[in-house]
Amino acid sequence: MKKVLVVNSNPKPTEMSYGLRLGEHYLAALQAKGDVAIERVNLYEDTIPLIDGSVLDSWGKAAKGEALTPQQTEVLGRMNEILEQFIAADLIVFITPMWNLSYPTMLKAYIDNVIIAGRTFKYTAEGPQGLLQGKRVVHIEARGGFYSEGPAQAFQFANSYLKAVMGFIGITEYENIVVEGMNAVPDRAEELLENAKRVAEESVARLYASV
Ligand SMILES: Cc1cc2nc3c(=O)[nH]c(=O)nc-3n(C[C@H](O)[C@H](O)[C@H](O)COP(=O)(O)O)c2cc1C
Repeated sequence: MKKVLVVNSNPKPTEMSYGLRLGEHYLAALQAKGDVAIERVNLYEDTIPLIDGSVLDSWGKAAKGEALTPQQTEVLGRMNEILEQFIAADLIVFITPMWNLSYPTMLKAYIDNVIIAGRTFKYTAEGPQGLLQGKRVVHIEARGGFYSEGPAQAFQFANSYLKAVMGFIGITEYENIVVEGMNAVPDRAEELLENAKRVAEESVARLYASV
């Protein structure tokens, strides 16, 4: 059984979101193909600690073997829970809307919980080295405008950052499945979603052909 972790960074209800609808279609196609166990983290409902002064202080204290406050123990415990859940997954599915040429803030907060020295990467004499192996990331992204072609390609910051930071921790099997242009051509929005669903199905078929 493959463990799939769905990281949803969209606070909308599914029926209001192109990205979430595409995400559910992708997951249904995955489930139809094989035995998968799906876990979900909802970044606008679940507790996702931010790296703040207290967290930095806790890390400093922990390194020196000093006692944490009860609040710091609780926050670090939750951060560790998030990290362990991420490390346990075989496939991580990020679902993001494009917000201001990037992704919602809570996704950065989540990433800050899983890029942890000694657990997901380490420093070596040759530079940083990713510690995760054999995992895949699928990034399902909804964008109001078109960014896949022409000069606007330079604005795909959300995808290029997510790809880079996942590569940093060793996850190089990375795919971006996009539904875009719904705000640019609202009359064609449902058609654009249907096209993206076909792309998602092809992605699942390739995944099962390769394992
Ligand atoms: C706060 C906010 C910022 C947005 N910024 C952009 C943007 O920079 N570029 C763009 O093409 N669309 C932008 N949009 C439109 C969304 O990308 C578009 O509505 C997309 O469908 C959102 O995904 P969803 O349908 O899954 O919620 C923005 C929407 C919101 C709410």
